[in-house]
Amino acid sequence: MNLSFTRHRRLRQSAAIRSMVRETVLTPADFIQPIYVTYGKGVKHEIKSMPGVYRFSLDMLEEELQEIVSLNIPAVLLFGIPETKDSVGSSAYAENGIVQEAIRLIKSRCPDLLVIADTCLCEFTDHGHCGMVHTFERDGELCGDVLNDESLELHVQTAVSQARAGADIIAPSNMMDGFVQAIRGGLDEAGFSHIPIMSYSVKYASAFYGPFREAADSAPQFGDRKTYQMDPANAREALREAESDVLEGADMLMVKPSLSYLDVMRTLKDQFDLPLVAYNVSGEYAMVKAAALNGWIDEKTMVLEILTSMKRAGADMIITYSAKDAAKWLLEGG
Ligand code: PBG
Ligand code: ZN
Repeated sequence: MNLSFTRHRRLRQSAAIRSMVRETVLTPADFIQPIYVTYGKGVKHEIKSMPGVYRFSLDMLEEELQEIVSLNIPAVLLFGIPETKDSVGSSAYAENGIVQEAIRLIKSRCPDLLVIADTCLCEFTDHGHCGMVHTFERDGELCGDVLNDESLELHVQTAVSQARAGADIIAPSNMMDGFVQAIRGGLDEAGFSHIPIMSYSVKYASAFYGPFREAADSAPQFGDRKTYQMDPANAREALREAESDVLEGADMLMVKPSLSYLDVMRTLKDQFDLPLVAYNVSGEYAMVKAAALNGWIDEKTMVLEILTSMKRAGADMIITYSAKDAAKWLLEGG
């Protein structure tokens, strides 16, 4: 018998050889850990739909920070839940806002830990939208338009106040048109031309944000986000979104959610040479956790496989609620 076919299995026969031919390697240096901070004292409140993820008041943050640093995770992404909300999201850009205070605290405790500030209004507005709204009634139902240009000024104020508090990177997630240009201009004018912008360039209107909206108490009170976040059906449009961000001065691009949009990640990676960020969002975390808690899947193997797929698709870094778990598993040897 002439067996002349290709023997792929030659390179799979031992752990050593598999490790030598491995194309994608995950390390804790790839990870960004999101943190929810809230007002008050003594708060460490677990998010129901995200077991293992908490809202912390600032006095309770120390242990979490030490753990992150000891696992060699280089960065955190901050979200704030304020004490008061109003129609223009004033607490988002207050000098002593919850995110601003958290930035000051973290930079004083862990100066080498990179602090990335999510810049948006939806956690701070009473209507839960990512900008200012014009509301009206239609057939007895409350409706609203999210105002683009009017909102930009508030996003700029938010970014500048976060930079003033000591944020290392500004990550605007609002999906208004022109937000990168507006924020870049505002930061430069305020003396922060050295602060990079990690733009949520390609952010889809996704059901995968459900658990986040519970965590951050930011569900829209009317309507949805489809007039500013992208249609999940569109991939070519993602190129236009990313291109405008590049032209406006973004330093890093993001695709969000990640798992259902790995094709978009690969396209962006091939098209632009900026560092690319994957956001492994709350719903992706919740699905895996729920299945793991039921004993239906092997959590460790599945989480590492998911994170590896994001890097394989082109991500240079990954925002993930699994950062601490994954870093632990990797340090133990995967
Ligand atoms: C705010 C924001 C959202 C997320 C990050 N920033 C929610 C949204 O757009 O509704 C989602 C993060 C997650 O699901 O983990 N604009
Ligand atoms: Zn928002």
